[in-house]
Amino acid sequence: MSDPSRPIRTAAVIPAAGRGVRLGPGAPKALRALGGTPMLVHAVRAMAASRAVSVVVVVAPPDGAAEVRHLLNEHPLTDRTDLVVVPGGETRQESVRLGLAALPDAVDVVLVHDAARPLVPVDTVDSVIAAVRGGAPAVVPALPLADTVKQVEPQPQGTPEPVVGTPERALLRAVQTPQGFDRETLLKAHDTVVEGEGATDDAGLVERLGTPVVVVPGHEEAFKVTRPLDLVLAEAVLARRRATDGYV
Ligand code: C5P
Repeated sequence: MSDPSRPIRTAAVIPAAGRGVRLGPGAPKALRALGGTPMLVHAVRAMAASRAVSVVVVVAPPDGAAEVRHLLNEHPLTDRTDLVVVPGGETRQESVRLGLAALPDAVDVVLVHDAARPLVPVDTVDSVIAAVRGGAPAVVPALPLADTVKQVEPQPQGTPEPVVGTPERALLRAVQTPQGFDRETLLKAHDTVVEGEGATDDAGLVERLGTPVVVVPGHEEAFKVTRPLDLVLAEAVLARRRATDGYV
């Protein structure tokens, strides 16, 4: 539990060290431009847009921390938010762990947000923070699925894959970021769960501790930019925001 005499401080860790090979050849994914501004800058601004977030830790490609720092200096945040840049690791889990190691002591609530989700609205960020501050140790934003999902027995490429099951769609959610955590809980999860045990998100590590994780509503504009078509969609969302909301 946090000390009530000390203001609760919230930080966001943004792992941005991935190569993003599914987007095609070119710069690391986080540095690709969206509406003329690097995707990472949008993601940092999306976290800093929340008045609760006082620190943003960006985890840069292992050999790219200086370049990322330089880039972010060209797009300064308001005085309300501090920015820290650290070099990342080989895997997302390692990158997040390196980001957590750079958090100031006074932080009690930690968001982990993919640089690849540059357009998450501030209301989604705030609702995740509110749920953690309300007492949930781990909170994920998520949406119901449009597609039916099949479990398959994977086969080499070109061989049809046998279906082994169809989970009930109404019970499934597609999980987004930022995921929010009580700091102690997330540190324990990263210290305890061994790399390669199959968790593809931070909440998955917390689940392995047996600690409850809850879902709050996500947002369709918090989608992950993974494939070339996602860039087209992201550009369209950005153009609409610039035309209607004065978004920069
Ligand atoms: O590859 P994927 O889209 O799942 O990556 C999710 C996020 O994790 C991205 O923001 C990516 O930059 C980050 N990542 C990282 N370090 C790695 C691999 C991925 O920070 N080694």
